[in-house]
Amino acid sequence: MKPRDRLRIAVQKSGRLSEVSQDLLARCGLKFRHSRDKLFCFGESLAIDLLLVRDDDIPGLIADGVCDLGIVGRNVLAEQQAALQSREAVVPFRELLPLGFGRCRLSIAIPQELDYAEPSSLQGLRIATTYPALTAQWLQQAGVTAKVVVLSGSVEIAPKLGTADAICDLVSSGATLQANQLREVAGILDSEAVLAAAPGLPPDERGELQELLLRRIEGVIQVRE
Ligand code: PRP
Ligand code: ZN
Ligand code: MG
Repeated sequence: MKPRDRLRIAVQKSGRLSEVSQDLLARCGLKFRHSRDKLFCFGESLAIDLLLVRDDDIPGLIADGVCDLGIVGRNVLAEQQAALQSREAVVPFRELLPLGFGRCRLSIAIPQELDYAEPSSLQGLRIATTYPALTAQWLQQAGVTAKVVVLSGSVEIAPKLGTADAICDLVSSGATLQANQLREVAGILDSEAVLAAAPGLPPDERGELQELLLRRIEGVIQVRE
């Protein structure tokens, strides 16, 4: 890894968190010059640059030292953390600060006509999800044996297609569940956008920049509340 003296933050390129994340940084007084491909934004007011990426890549970019910070859903961090823990590997990133936007929950949902009393109602079922590690962890803690079917998207149509009996997916307004005649029966994780970072503070100027940015973010959040 080349040494860097500028702090680098990863944010979602397109999706639910992308605009709000960039708004938050703008309110912190950060101004950026966009590159032509719009993937890298050079910070003009402070030595803080932006990298626009897929949200699932953010924990890995922090782990590899490509970025110092990231704005990402707790759900993404928690899934990758659970996957690492299940292999007894170290978790090279952490949640620094909850940001108060992008609130949603990771929940188990089942077809409306299916009975549910408690987690054991899921015994022997197939559960489709993009969050296999968190789903498996929750099932194990509940003492339930079920098959986790990993899908990369459109999880909500799996029960209709017959590829799964239930799903474990993010719920925000509930519109997706309703449109697919599914009902939420158990919450696995409460999520929102968070500021993620490597375990330690960068040992150089970036450390001071990180602390400065953290204070400004806290200030912006306080004003909003
Ligand atoms: C999430 C989730 C659901 C939907 C839930 O998908 O996977 O499909 O949002 O939100 P709702 O309760 O307000 O309907 P998202 O649109 O973030 O995109 P993705 O599934 O492609 O990642
Ligand atoms: Zn994603
Ligand atoms: Mg979806």
